[in-house]
Amino acid sequence: MSAKRRIAVLTSGGDAPGMNAAIRAVVRMAVARDCEAVAIRHGYEGLLDGDFFEMELGSVGGVLDRGGTFIGTSRSQRMFAEEGLDLGVQQLADQGITGLVVIGGDGTYRAAEELDRRGVKVIGIPGTIDNDIDATDTTIGFDTAQNTICDATSKVRDTASSHERTFIIEVMGRTCGMLALYSGLAAGADVILVPEVPWKIEDICQSVSQGIARGKKHSIIVVAEGAAHAFGLAEDLTQSCGHQVRAVVLGHIQRGGSPSAFDRTLASRMGATAVDALLAGESGKAVCLQNADMALETFATCYSHHHEMKQHIYDLAMVLAR
Ligand code: F6P
Repeated sequence: MSAKRRIAVLTSGGDAPGMNAAIRAVVRMAVARDCEAVAIRHGYEGLLDGDFFEMELGSVGGVLDRGGTFIGTSRSQRMFAEEGLDLGVQQLADQGITGLVVIGGDGTYRAAEELDRRGVKVIGIPGTIDNDIDATDTTIGFDTAQNTICDATSKVRDTASSHERTFIIEVMGRTCGMLALYSGLAAGADVILVPEVPWKIEDICQSVSQGIARGKKHSIIVVAEGAAHAFGLAEDLTQSCGHQVRAVVLGHIQRGGSPSAFDRTLASRMGATAVDALLAGESGKAVCLQNADMALETFATCYSHHHEMKQHIYDLAMVLAR
């Protein structure tokens, strides 16, 4: 095995636009620092199966503007069992990997923390459209997903306004309403429902009815999947408000597409920072964006703080929606 340091990269959990830009940055920064770069296919599943492949500068050509992750991802259950973790450590040792970069969300970080406990040098990068990692100001993919939602909402608004209808737009976010909250603010939603804030059907009806009374031609309700299901809510609102309500579920469209300039820049900076952190001897930490700068926080700090609801953003969205 070569005497050079060998840095491996994997993507795990739900894909997010900008993951490819992060992989590219890891590979190119590793080569620039005279290291070998290796990718692992399909996240932790590929790690356990020993699915490693060598990367060169050209291996990441043409991926910067592509959505998804070209090395594949998975939601691995095996990595959460003792035998899986031991096998993962063994596979990395067999491949002579001296540092690992994992790109994903909090589940990815939990497994990485276990690897760190077992002596693997590992650094995380936050890649998820959910933006549910408090230690970082934002995650790779969140900005692109918001833009996708805003674009879809504008299209829905055209037809909502033409027919003078109320529309519910369901966005992703099982436990965290950040995507609904920020895209709802950016899209000018009249009502935003997030898992963190209890809601009552009467209050939604009242907001919609007040809008109509003021001469509004349509209403847009943005709802996180963890707060309500759009089709059920549409039926309930149609009953309670006395007029037809339509529903749109954006689903996995939100996870796809070419990353925004913001996400590409963020991913490029984070990928490079992760490599330099490993070379500086850091481990057990994730790269974060904090006040426009790169920072490192322990995995535990990243996942153990329950995601904080941004009440002031919610309040602002509701004031501006009037
Ligand atoms: O974690 C990202 C995410 O897109 C969530 O917002 C969503 O609830 C979930 O993944 C969907 O996961 P899957 O694609 O595995 O159904």
